[in-house]
Amino acid sequence: MTTPAKTHIAPGPDASVPVGGAVGHPVDRRDGRAKATGTARFSAEHRYPDLTYATLVHATIARGTITHIDTAAAAAVPGVVAVLTHLNAPRIKPPRKPNIVRDLGPDVSGTDVDYLNTDQVFWDGQPIAVVIATTSAAANEAAPLVEATYDKLPARVDFAAEQKNATPAKGDLTFAGVAKKGDAEAALAAAEVSVDLRYTTPGLQHNAIEPHATVAVWDGDHLTVHDTTQSITQSRRYLAWRFGVPASHVRVHAEFLGGGFGGKFAVWPGTVIAAMAAKAVGRPVRLALTRTAVNRATGGRTASTNRIALGATRDGRLTSLIQDSITRIGSTGGQFEPTGSPARHLYGAQNLLTRQDHAVMDLMPNTWLRAPGEAIGTFALESAMDELAYELSMDPIALRMRNEPETDPTKGKKFSQRMQREAFERGAERFGWADRDPEPRSMRDGEWLVGMGTAAAFHPVLRLVADVKVRLSDDGSALVQCGFHEMGMGAATVQAQIAADALGIDYEKVRVEYGDSALPSGPMAGNSNQTATVATSVLAACAELTRKITALARRTGTTGQEPAAALRAAGTPFLEASVGSATRLGELRSQGRFLSTFLKDQRRSKAARGAQFCEVRVNADTGELRISRWLGMFDVGHIINPKTAASQLRGAVVMGIGMALSEQSLIDPRNGRTMSAGLDSYYVPVHADIPPIDVDWLDEPDRTMPLGIIGLGEVGTTGVAAAIANAVFHATGRRVRDLPITLDKVL
Ligand code: MOS
Repeated sequence: MTTPAKTHIAPGPDASVPVGGAVGHPVDRRDGRAKATGTARFSAEHRYPDLTYATLVHATIARGTITHIDTAAAAAVPGVVAVLTHLNAPRIKPPRKPNIVRDLGPDVSGTDVDYLNTDQVFWDGQPIAVVIATTSAAANEAAPLVEATYDKLPARVDFAAEQKNATPAKGDLTFAGVAKKGDAEAALAAAEVSVDLRYTTPGLQHNAIEPHATVAVWDGDHLTVHDTTQSITQSRRYLAWRFGVPASHVRVHAEFLGGGFGGKFAVWPGTVIAAMAAKAVGRPVRLALTRTAVNRATGGRTASTNRIALGATRDGRLTSLIQDSITRIGSTGGQFEPTGSPARHLYGAQNLLTRQDHAVMDLMPNTWLRAPGEAIGTFALESAMDELAYELSMDPIALRMRNEPETDPTKGKKFSQRMQREAFERGAERFGWADRDPEPRSMRDGEWLVGMGTAAAFHPVLRLVADVKVRLSDDGSALVQCGFHEMGMGAATVQAQIAADALGIDYEKVRVEYGDSALPSGPMAGNSNQTATVATSVLAACAELTRKITALARRTGTTGQEPAAALRAAGTPFLEASVGSATRLGELRSQGRFLSTFLKDQRRSKAARGAQFCEVRVNADTGELRISRWLGMFDVGHIINPKTAASQLRGAVVMGIGMALSEQSLIDPRNGRTMSAGLDSYYVPVHADIPPIDVDWLDEPDRTMPLGIIGLGEVGTTGVAAAIANAVFHATGRRVRDLPITLDKVL
């Protein structure tokens, strides 16, 4: 069996990185050149002899039973090798139910549907067959010829209608369904000033630039997949479970990813079906989802309804803060999206209540999408804070500052780091907030109404666990191995910077291998955890390696020379140090390390924070809405690489702009069909929509985290939609509480 050659990535061209000073240097992304020049091979681009091409067939009803499925016409298309349905697909083990403990751990499926092993349909778009052919053209031609007939059942597909049936959400390991302090309803009723409002957000889709794809290859009972996953360890364990082989027989590659945003965290049907198809036809199979298939057969963000009620004294002290949300999950799975997360942490309200209900729907289950919980929660809460500021005739920043908590508002824990005040102060000065006339519709530039808005950004810290191996060779080079993920954020680059300084060697001499489950097991790339998680283990492994080298240097009399001199003097080709191991005991220890880190991190309230500022221009005649200026001022710990950090934060702001102005999943309330499955009907921001985005940070390390790192992947998207909605109100006097803010809502 041919396994494609490993992709080694050379450092970027700006190798003028000082020894010992790699951390903090704006190093180019290591994967940048390979991606920009087209030499990077993405999952769908791996070639094997005898490769076949697969296309999914999707259910056209939301709930029911397949009574008949006719594959004759599809099978007759020249080049078609097989058509698999629930009648003839290989039997595999049923999926396990999604589980709140495992969902942070070993194996996560997007749904618990037994794809192609069941005649049951649970959502419109569920794969019910797969066509495998010698060319993708033949597979694509044949797939629409598969005809299914169904016994339809009533389906719950209209979120507006299902809200009355919603039941309390249980929460998960990191976030309880309900938080309560005092009697918030009574305090609201008694408040001198109050607002009681309802904010709604639509479902959203990730639409990463690279659609989901899998190449699956069996060799006996060994499975290799090239898969678009931001969680290779979990993907491996899940596939091993479903196909009844040991995890050591499954190898998952994901060296390059064209974005993920949470959409590639869970295992989706395409991955399972590709492996199933490869088993059935005895040949390698490539299943590259079309954009439409991605949006019909992988999850997106839930829609939401949020009541936010705030009570305050006349001088702006919050006496009551209530958030009551309804979100949806699927009947076959779905992630808890903790919309109340910002409300539990941002303000020192005397009384507080946040709760959340789930409406169970016969739709594609929702999943994580950038800043799940906080993206929605900051829109609702930070819009309401702006509305309260107007009720109080107070500056919205002054209102926020008046309610800065001393300790975590719900748990009373100390903050490990909190520079929310500094973020607003420095941001306001840089943005020119003082020039804003608070009166709505008071600032104008010709036909354009001008408005300025602000909002807090917030995303909590989560650290998982990583196994890492570091090797120093006698030629002075180092190799860092860890099965983490590079979705375009600069993950390998920053870990090379960290290892270079920890070993005291040149940045260019450090090679990093990642994106392969044969490497020491890495964390999933999600919840903004990866940098700090991997750094924790890289630093520990480098420290151990340094101890070994120091001892060897003492023995060989090379103390004071470069580290590799000791190896050469001793005639030792290399020295290694590891954190974690792939044995059964190693896995148990790694779970122990996760729990102890998790519990330690829980002692303090830790989060990434920031202040978003925007200026909008709304055409007084047409309602056309343009973002003209942006500033995000962030409190995100110590910055390892200013170039990749700025890029992460800017990209996240762009995503927030999409959420605010144009993106929405449209589902036909009659039949549950996704109507926005393509980029022709789901509008992501394009270059012309985006102004120059100014981002900066306070660069204050969080002393409880390795190198002071706070993950910054997601915080940049939080607060964006509220800052825009607040600016639109300031510009026009129209308050939009229902995203997206389209021009019909501001006219
Ligand atoms: Mo993110 S939603 O954790 O990729």
